[in-house]
Amino acid sequence: MPALACCVDAAVPPPPCYAFTSWETILPAPDINSGVTSDSHWSPSLSASLYRIDQWGGPYFGVNDNGNVSIYPHGSKTLNHQEIDLFKIVKKASDAKDEGGLGLQLPIIIRLPDVLKHRVESIQSAFESAIEAEGYTSHYQGVYPVKCNQDRFVVDDIVRFGDKFRFGLEAGSKPELLLAMSCLCKGNAEAFLVCNGFKDAEFISLSLVGRKLGFNTVIVLELEEEADLVIDLSRKLGVRPVIGMRAKLRTKHDGHFGSTSGEKGKFGLTTTQILRVVKKLDECGMLDCLQLLHFHIGSQIPSTALLADGVGEAAQVYCELVRLGARMGVIDIGGGLGIDYDGSKSPNSDVSVGYTLEEYAAAVVGEIKSACDRKMVKHPVICSESGRAIVSHHSVLVFEAVSASKNSVPQMSSADLSYLIERLPEDAIVDYRKLSAAAMGGEYETCLLYSDQLKQKCVEQFKEGSFDIDQLAAVDGLCDLVYKAIGAPDPVRTYHVNLSVFTSIPDFWGIGQLFPIVPIHRLEQKPVVKGILSDITCDSDGKIGKFIGGEESLPLHELKGGGGGSYYLGMFLGGAYEEGLGGIHNLFGGPSVVRVSQSDGPHSFAVTQAVHGPSCADVLRMMQHEPEMMFEKLKHRAEEYVFDEGAHGLDHDAIANGIASSFHNMPYLVKSSCSLIASDDDNGYYSSDVNNYGTVVDSDAPEDEEWSDCCA
Ligand SMILES: Cc1ncc(COP(=O)(O)O)c(C=O)c1O
Repeated sequence: MPALACCVDAAVPPPPCYAFTSWETILPAPDINSGVTSDSHWSPSLSASLYRIDQWGGPYFGVNDNGNVSIYPHGSKTLNHQEIDLFKIVKKASDAKDEGGLGLQLPIIIRLPDVLKHRVESIQSAFESAIEAEGYTSHYQGVYPVKCNQDRFVVDDIVRFGDKFRFGLEAGSKPELLLAMSCLCKGNAEAFLVCNGFKDAEFISLSLVGRKLGFNTVIVLELEEEADLVIDLSRKLGVRPVIGMRAKLRTKHDGHFGSTSGEKGKFGLTTTQILRVVKKLDECGMLDCLQLLHFHIGSQIPSTALLADGVGEAAQVYCELVRLGARMGVIDIGGGLGIDYDGSKSPNSDVSVGYTLEEYAAAVVGEIKSACDRKMVKHPVICSESGRAIVSHHSVLVFEAVSASKNSVPQMSSADLSYLIERLPEDAIVDYRKLSAAAMGGEYETCLLYSDQLKQKCVEQFKEGSFDIDQLAAVDGLCDLVYKAIGAPDPVRTYHVNLSVFTSIPDFWGIGQLFPIVPIHRLEQKPVVKGILSDITCDSDGKIGKFIGGEESLPLHELKGGGGGSYYLGMFLGGAYEEGLGGIHNLFGGPSVVRVSQSDGPHSFAVTQAVHGPSCADVLRMMQHEPEMMFEKLKHRAEEYVFDEGAHGLDHDAIANGIASSFHNMPYLVKSSCSLIASDDDNGYYSSDVNNYGTVVDSDAPEDEEWSDCCA
């Protein structure tokens, strides 16, 4: 059988019985680009609207004139010269050290402490404005729930930025409490340390000891039984506790994140339980310890109507507790301040919210004030536990597309075509003739139908063994030619991304949460391909085929060159929950991390900290393997099996060194030569590169030290 030709062999006349030589000449493709802006008229601002950056990005992200994603580190207060080019950060972080970079491997998380600061200040200022506007007579004092992102530097930053607002922390487990106490050593003494979650004697004792250590710990009762432990342990430790109570509200949040709300919610005390606990505390002379009412409607509260409903109900419970004699002083409205992931400002979606930060704060303050005023109760301190709203924007995950499936349409010579058709089974020939006729008549739908039938019959022949693999490929090629000729839209391509969805975007896998994903450069060019993203784990779930705006594919650019390894995508608004939830499926660990601050240098940013992601040895250790012993075993094996191989072979020392570097490297693909292969030919093939690795680039850098080579 002749090999399929790469171009149409126009010199060979078609066999008389066949209708045409080239489908493309028979069926001029309709102009699928009609009405679409051509390449030369494309602009960064068109990309900003195509990817909805102008809807979800504000006030922190946009697109600059170079077609790169731009960061506005101080939100709307960012001056022109303070804008940071995200692509430049990625280059700085990932370029080799001898090229002036930091030699970090992607994927990479870029943390933006300036954005964190702006978030904390914005929330504070929204509440302060609402308090002033309403004539509310107490203040707002927020806490950050560390479960949203327990990274040491994130928590430290929040404590530092929130110091002047008495901003505190919320912990939901013993390790979270330990980290909160440790971070709050540098915090404001009045800052709350709210202890939520299920508690045992150890957890409660720790919180009580926290008070002895000068922390403003509040033990929030999630279960009725916890009251007995608190009473008992506080007596034993000689500590007067501050107690909070989590109320199970009737208000129900129907969205995905609302399962913790309503009467059947997992947490909190029912009305009857609240009354029983009040009685118990009263009987043992501790009712004055009950000072805080807590509730949590659920994450991503979609509308201010639902918020007002829940806050209004809780405010009534608060007033009742005052009436019952508790020395109440704080109402803690929990989390739930939502993020507009798709920029649609919709109150009917899990990935959007129908309010602004200011409207949220106004609804909270207004509801509490009106309930308290009606019952003549002193206005309480308002505490909120916003997590998502504080940390989501501050981190960007950047990853690379390493290859893409191709939609190249093979071309066929008449000889190839006749050879193929001669060997088709009878019924397939019938389909082929019908296909020809439909093509001649310009009947596109019928064309598609018969080409599918033809393909199906040939697949059956192949399964029976009467068709060989070249014939099958030729039929596929013919059908692709037909699709192209009739102007069928290009099928969606698969872009392979050097990432683990399970590790870095677990909420997409687990609950279908959508995040904005956008190429971070080339936005001055029109994206010409539609693609889905497939990660490098060996798991069919490791792909992203749903995007904001209800899209099932993402507009993308063609990869450049053979390996195409320099096409960078960013996942935005993922600073909350993703890092803590991510696992190590396939033993892909977390990304590298850089911390980037706005600076007044020529490139407007400084990398103040950079850390490689976990190495293969690190992730192996997490599963109880012992990399050092594993290495020793493999080294002995090399000594046993490999003898001196001469100039071109690998001796056992070289093999042992190669294995050692594999333990030290991150598990992700690297575009360079492999330390186990002598050749240093860089053809875009992805393998491992020992030279690019260390464990920590600069974990000991002083807090605000800018590296001399930091500016890209
Ligand atoms: C008790 C409590 N507080 C605060 C939060 C943080 O919520 P969000 O991230 O929606 O602000 C949660 C999260 O579900 C929570 O359960």
